[in-house]
Amino acid sequence: MSKPREHWGSKFGFILAAAGSAVGLGNIWKYPHMAGQNGGGAFTMVYLICILIVGLPILLAEISIGRHTQLNPVGAFKSLSKNSNWKLVGFLGVASAFTILSFYSVVGGWTLKYTFLALMGAFAEFSAGQGAGEAFNQFIMNPIEPVFWHLVFMGLCILIIAQGVKSGIERWSKILMPILLVILLVLVFRGITLDGADEGLRFLFSPKWSDLNASSIVLALGHAFFTISLGMGTMITYGSYMDKKSDLLQSALWVIGLDTAIALLAGIAIFTAVFALGQNPAEGPGLIFVVLPSLFPSMAGGAIFGIMFFFLLFVAALTSAISILEVVTAYFIDEKGWSRAKATYIFGGVIGAIGVIASLSNSGYNILSPITDMTFMDLMDKVSSKYMLPLGGMLTAVFVLVRWGISRFVDEMHVGAAWFKFSKPVVTTIFIISGIVVAYIFVRELLAVLG
Ligand code: PHE
Repeated sequence: MSKPREHWGSKFGFILAAAGSAVGLGNIWKYPHMAGQNGGGAFTMVYLICILIVGLPILLAEISIGRHTQLNPVGAFKSLSKNSNWKLVGFLGVASAFTILSFYSVVGGWTLKYTFLALMGAFAEFSAGQGAGEAFNQFIMNPIEPVFWHLVFMGLCILIIAQGVKSGIERWSKILMPILLVILLVLVFRGITLDGADEGLRFLFSPKWSDLNASSIVLALGHAFFTISLGMGTMITYGSYMDKKSDLLQSALWVIGLDTAIALLAGIAIFTAVFALGQNPAEGPGLIFVVLPSLFPSMAGGAIFGIMFFFLLFVAALTSAISILEVVTAYFIDEKGWSRAKATYIFGGVIGAIGVIASLSNSGYNILSPITDMTFMDLMDKVSSKYMLPLGGMLTAVFVLVRWGISRFVDEMHVGAAWFKFSKPVVTTIFIISGIVVAYIFVRELLAVLG
């Protein structure tokens, strides 16, 4: 007889853990630099539309599949569709977890290193725009140091996940998420009180449509999946720890609201500073690790804000990374009968090892160099956010439509939530639209790559 499934301690347990998963490097590192390079407000607008028409329905689909089956993604698809190939969608999710976590944890390591640098007062040597770029390149090109920080970061994830759902994931999310919010609000306040901050706000919120092209739209859609942790079964897994009393719609709205608010707040904190101090918003991935460290020294209180910023980034990354590891762990516990400790240590270790390959690919040991210029780390990032997550999300929507059935989905949504009555035709239409939007963009992108 297996142990009964662990559940969240309260409805806030799920909301905080799921928001912890959603709010991550995607919000604070990726979104600002993507917006910076793709027309600021125009990108933000497309991204918000994608969240509403694609993100929300698929998030609801995932958590209801999870709560209904009380299983990991592979088990969930298996139990709702016996002897069919739908379980492959679950396997795709587990594969995405390996792919994402291997590069995510490397960047997680960078956030730790930069928190440490900020604590040591190392940014003081950078004057606006000078020195920080070289320091960052030197750091990521070093074969040993980033690997060390990545392994520390991965070690922390393993320790939390090994403690289980309530005393690991939920407890740490309850501690870390409020810290994250408070730090972010302080940074936003610092940003908007800088002279010239309004230019940053204008950049982020007023759309420059000319900078937006088809590929930015694909980017915005992929990012909508990435930022809400959709398309790989994270939310199925977290949903599987919900009980029948929880209100799925209300929880999903909280998660999406918090995720979006935090991305926008991070954008405000960052772009007000970037513009006030006359830096380039389109710096790309280096925006956070190159531009910001060079800004802190010229800002009143910069030393302390620097520490807060990188610690914030680290906390955000950690609560997301654990949710990715939990997908793999839950699969081995449910489907293979492994103990939590064994699943966590073994697969945390395997992902840690793939992460080492990713980290080394920045430092001249790129295993892809015989074939392409792209680093292994970049490949993991692109393949997962551009293809694997949208594919997983689209198949989940199709699954609800054609296999599980809208009425069973709607019945599950009504359990624990009597205040809202879903209309089946409306829900069906929404799922068809979101499925078509993702399919269209996905196929276009695939053809562009193949053609
Ligand atoms: N949502 C996380 C972020 O924005 C990343 C993530 C993707 C986490 C997929 C889990 C699953 O950083």
